[in-house]
Amino acid sequence: MQATPLYCAECARRDTAERLAARFALPLVKQRPDSGYWLELGPERLELVTTGKHGAVYAEFVEGAAKHRREQGGGRGQPVAKAVGLKGAKDLPRIVDATAGLGGDSFVLATLGCQVTLLERSPVAAALLFDALERASVHPDTQDIVARMTLIHTNAITWLAEQAELPWSQRPDVVFVDPMFPDTDKKSAAAKKGMQAFQHVIGDDMDSAALLEAAIAAATGRVVVKRPQRGVLIEGVKPSVVLDGKSTRFDLYVIKALRPQDFVGRE
Ligand SMILES: C[S@@+](CC[C@H](N)C(=O)[O-])C[C@H]1O[C@@H](n2cnc3c(N)ncnc32)[C@H](O)[C@@H]1O
Repeated sequence: MQATPLYCAECARRDTAERLAARFALPLVKQRPDSGYWLELGPERLELVTTGKHGAVYAEFVEGAAKHRREQGGGRGQPVAKAVGLKGAKDLPRIVDATAGLGGDSFVLATLGCQVTLLERSPVAAALLFDALERASVHPDTQDIVARMTLIHTNAITWLAEQAELPWSQRPDVVFVDPMFPDTDKKSAAAKKGMQAFQHVIGDDMDSAALLEAAIAAATGRVVVKRPQRGVLIEGVKPSVVLDGKSTRFDLYVIKALRPQDFVGRE
């Protein structure tokens, strides 16, 4: 797949554009592209844009849905908090979000007090995330929350394999996985309409089974897979528990409860 170009629309932010281009290996272009998708750095933020009908896509932790979540969020009773085991927990788990995307789930978990390591392999998503974290780190309402979020631009499969070699006490308690699945479910495809530009640029994650296996090898507590309510299971391992929600489902792989027969197709 061709690298997504980065265009700087704001002369005063040329240095920031150069740093982003170097950090995420993005080709910095002098002119705004007239077709396809590109990253555009404006006076306020970095966006993924296109000449087509899709709106701009960006990560955001200060305004909009993130603000609403901060102010009205469901606390430890909300499904994602239950899924990672926050309900009733004395100690907050150390969480690795292996598929950080635009950071929505990581932000919720960090808002609840967890330390979250965000892994993202796409340079486009990682750059959008980096920009949003920078903006949130200088806003009084969000700086404490994003101080608990650490972004690493890497492939989670290899990163988690390295974690699996570490002593037990240094490994993550929970690995959270929310892959971009090739979905046949029409309802969930429609729900994601606003994210079509993001999906188009990043593509489907065809190696989710390898990611799940690496996550299970690295986590000491559990792996949480987020899926659309009717989405198919990631193949390879049977979940220990399934938490059904209205539109989202969480498949839990509780490390201590996994038995050899849960690993499908393995001798
Ligand atoms: C559906 S999105 C995640 C959305 C995210 N939960 C949120 O709240 O914004 C999936 C993301 O995972 C990333 N991803 C998939 N497999 C990965 C891997 N092996 N390593 C790192 N990132 C991965 C994709 O690039 C994509 O950005």
